[in-house]
Amino acid sequence: MTRVLSAVAWPYTNGPRHIGHVAGFGVPSDVFSRFMRMAGHDVLMVSGTDEHGTPILVLADNEGLPPRELVDKYNQVIVDDLCGLGLSYDLFTRTTTGNHYAVVQEMFETCRQNGYMVEETTKTAISPSTGRTLPDRYIEGTCPICGYKEARGDQCDNCGNQLDATDLIDPRSKINGETPEFRDTQHFFLDLPALAEALGEWLDQREATGLWRPNVIRFSQNILKEIRPRAMTRDIDWGIPVPGWEDQPTKRLYVWFDAVIGYLSASIEWARRLGEPDKWREWWNDADAESYYFMGKDNIVFHSQIWPAELLAYNGAGDKGGEPGTFGVLNLPTEVVSSEFLTFGDSQFSTSRGNVIYVGDFLARYGADALRYYICAAGPETSDAAFTWADFVTRNNSELVAGWGNLVNRTATMIAKNFGEIPVAGPLEEVDEQVLGTVRDGFAGVGDLIEKHRLRAAIAEAMRVVGEVNKYLTVTEPYKMKDESQRERLGTVLHVAAQCVSDCNTLLSPFLPHAANKVHTTLGGEGELMPMPRIEQVEELEPDNGAGHTSYSVITGDYAGTPAWESRPILVGSKVDKPTPVFTKLDPSIIEEELSR
Ligand code: MF3
Ligand code: ZN
Repeated sequence: MTRVLSAVAWPYTNGPRHIGHVAGFGVPSDVFSRFMRMAGHDVLMVSGTDEHGTPILVLADNEGLPPRELVDKYNQVIVDDLCGLGLSYDLFTRTTTGNHYAVVQEMFETCRQNGYMVEETTKTAISPSTGRTLPDRYIEGTCPICGYKEARGDQCDNCGNQLDATDLIDPRSKINGETPEFRDTQHFFLDLPALAEALGEWLDQREATGLWRPNVIRFSQNILKEIRPRAMTRDIDWGIPVPGWEDQPTKRLYVWFDAVIGYLSASIEWARRLGEPDKWREWWNDADAESYYFMGKDNIVFHSQIWPAELLAYNGAGDKGGEPGTFGVLNLPTEVVSSEFLTFGDSQFSTSRGNVIYVGDFLARYGADALRYYICAAGPETSDAAFTWADFVTRNNSELVAGWGNLVNRTATMIAKNFGEIPVAGPLEEVDEQVLGTVRDGFAGVGDLIEKHRLRAAIAEAMRVVGEVNKYLTVTEPYKMKDESQRERLGTVLHVAAQCVSDCNTLLSPFLPHAANKVHTTLGGEGELMPMPRIEQVEELEPDNGAGHTSYSVITGDYAGTPAWESRPILVGSKVDKPTPVFTKLDPSIIEEELSR
């Protein structure tokens, strides 16, 4: 048993999430977490909404809402969507809680005491027409490194390098096209060069495990070469106050400084709510614990450089030495599991261009597991993947419905009609032993692939096993066994088939937890096979210290009843009624319908 932290990227509360988002961080992290629990590990899965930063202010302006109301609104939407998708968070919270503020401030102060937060004068961009500061990502210009014409002031999407707006050639405002003015301002910089050696050692160790996806480790090592200090404060009035600068309300901590600390603060909040306030330490202070971070590729730099750097600075493990603060020595990530992008046809999903499929709409129309299946089978695991409605309909109909759904349906229908309960098995023939063996062997194969985050291969392997069981029914032809003299053999074949369906259901349950519960009852099982998350309204733990909530919604759940990753003997005599279909066949007309929305 290993302690496993599943650290899932925190969605911004600047609108509802689209299916590209959940393909990147959501579904992959949930399949992994559910599987690891089944494999007997002690999983802590945390995340929340990321509610600070300029994008929130810009949208609040557009919607005519105060930022607080805006983040409350979208926090609720996101909580509903992610819970509806069945993502089994132990705690999904928010960055506007008093607990998060306190944890972030402790991190900042210790990093500063250890010498890694350096105060410096720098330039900030001002919009000449409004007099307001213009954040880096709202400035566009030519990349000084690769010459790309549409680089942003914070990052170049062409070469992946982090930039400062002052580096851009021909900078202009993305909001109104004007040329920004640059003025002097004071900020705290994280002294990344003083942490570079420690970061490099950590990355070398990580590379040696051979576990990281090659493009993720390569990218992370590359950006280490260009490392330089980065501002961890901003001229903005929405965010976490900077310790020591409380008298300057227009200076706040940089949103990415606080967001990544969410993994730690959410773990602490989870432990506090459990009534065991130090329990989070088992995942963070014990060097044997493992941590997996899930995200889309645009987040890699923050998880393989900025966050580990914050941790090293806190631990006092860079060139300047230092002592850890009250949290003790904190673990660095075991693995940064980054997905590529899910595209929509041949372009990016884009909320602003209306080229988007929202999670909430998708769930309402097609259900959670149809989406989960698609993302696992065809998602952007190691290269960009294009979502098309035609592909979705084909996979749903020919794989989920005609493959898995049909196997469940045939098996349960024949059992219901002939026995009304799981029949007893007579002597097994070779064909029976063979199919049972194939299914049993599936556990090692599928499990190993999920553990390596190879979900496409894992679900394909599970579906191959399903295909073998379908073949078994085709070969043994139980539907032809009508004679009384064949009744014992009929019982045996249907018993074997039911055992195989039950085992295939276990194999597919990390991917398709809702369907798993339905298949479980279809075969006469009691209760829920796969525990589901729920939304709970909780009281703010530190009302005076956060963004002013008194209570808020979290996603949580009790996953202790998760079944083991193994074959479980089906119970002879369990009642089996005529089944209703587990999955819905989609009419190809929905393709046109969706495209014309
Ligand atoms: N809010 C960011 C995004 O949606 C992700 C933040 S991940 C965290 O891209 F680690 F910083 F929380
Ligand atoms: Zn570039």
